[in-house]
Amino acid sequence: MTGSNRIVVTFGTFDVFHIGHLNILKRARLHGDTLIVGVSSDRLNIEKKDRAPVYPETERMEIVRQIKAVSDVFLEDSLELKGEYLRQFNADALVMGDDWEGKFDHFKEICDVIYLPRTEGISTTQTITKIKKYD
Ligand code: CTP
Repeated sequence: MTGSNRIVVTFGTFDVFHIGHLNILKRARLHGDTLIVGVSSDRLNIEKKDRAPVYPETERMEIVRQIKAVSDVFLEDSLELKGEYLRQFNADALVMGDDWEGKFDHFKEICDVIYLPRTEGISTTQTITKIKKYD
């Protein structure tokens, strides 16, 4: 079919950007033509993880926006609005890391729900802990 544009949406904090983040964005993009990324807000992170991200939302959004696989970004300010965001962006697929396996299956009525394996041995939390040890 000509002119098909399969839209993939994914979400994350993407703080202290690392290779696991790049890998999931590249692999998410392979599931469609356009990749739209919901970057979680500073406020949402404080609510979720009880700490502010190292980099503010404006900077995290700009870093993700400039990744080649990414078409556009938006600010995710509420976990409850995931379904609304998927509808708003006409998502054909929701891609999440498999740390969320099964948790978003109820969105299958809106679009495909795909869980991808995480890159082993790296996370933002681990990186922050590692850097702290250099003191
Ligand atoms: N991700 C991944 N592989 C990793 C780390 C993250 O595939 N090693 C994916 C997550 O599954 C998610 C996206 O990257 O889909 C954003 O994850 P995020 O929570 O921002 O990164 P983490 O490194 O997991 O952060 P934290 O340590 O603060 O939980």
